[in-house]
Amino acid sequence: MALITTKQILTPQPSGWAVGAFNVHNMEDVQAVVWAAEEAQAPVIILVSESALKHAGAAYIGSIVKAASERVNIPIALQLDHGRSYEVAVECIKEGFSGVMIDGSHLPFAENVALTKKVVEVAHDFGVTVEGELGRVGGKEDHLNVASQDAFLTDPDQVVEFVESTGIDILAPAIGTVHGLYRGEPMIDFALLGKIRALVHLPLVMHGGSDLPVAIIEQAIASGISKINVGTDIKYAVTDTIKEYFRDHPEEFEPRKVFGAAREQAKRVVGEKLLLFKAVGKAREVNR
Ligand code: 13P
Repeated sequence: MALITTKQILTPQPSGWAVGAFNVHNMEDVQAVVWAAEEAQAPVIILVSESALKHAGAAYIGSIVKAASERVNIPIALQLDHGRSYEVAVECIKEGFSGVMIDGSHLPFAENVALTKKVVEVAHDFGVTVEGELGRVGGKEDHLNVASQDAFLTDPDQVVEFVESTGIDILAPAIGTVHGLYRGEPMIDFALLGKIRALVHLPLVMHGGSDLPVAIIEQAIASGISKINVGTDIKYAVTDTIKEYFRDHPEEFEPRKVFGAAREQAKRVVGEKLLLFKAVGKAREVNR
């Protein structure tokens, strides 16, 4: 089916389960995500970071995702992940993305509000969903590298003002998760998440969904998270498989075999996440 917006995917707002949102970089990643979601009959959000856009091009990756979506019967949204400028958001909207995340978390509060609001105005004119970030998620994600001393949790006193004055559809709070692998034990502030959940009604996103223990994912969902972003675990599935492939077949020169093996492992990881997020069979619950 045709792409739908991230907001539609999150309507009615998932409760007791979460929609998986997965970072992709090329055709094989897109197929891995879409095929795993189809097998699971789960709605899914495909995320493209600025680095992935630079690598693949918004038009190319957009066309691949649309082609994949049209060949299955599950709800799929395509969203810019951590867009840092108005211009990149507009580029993605023009290429038919159905959601954009504008990440002004590196800016002072008032500037984050102003940038996010400007993106909301144009995105909503085109019926495109907007996710904003308040607080700053740490760690490394493609082009973004937020050192731990620069990361900070969401200030609950700013949440209502941020949501109301920007008009965003989805909120990504910083609750202690990080992008990339965790050094030591993940420290998630569930009390803060609970406070935020009580303050606003829009869907809440958990970034940094890789490398987390099952219990944390389950508690996050129980505490009101309804979209979980995963990137790093797929990257490792792909690159570890490629390394292993060449270790076992040093003479191989057929790219299809190598990338095909990597795609299979990426698909397995996505399928496991959808199961963990309790998203299996939820395609029919989404308002299309
Ligand atoms: P991970 O790479 O840690 O899974 O984080 C992905 C993410 O939050 C994308 O926005």
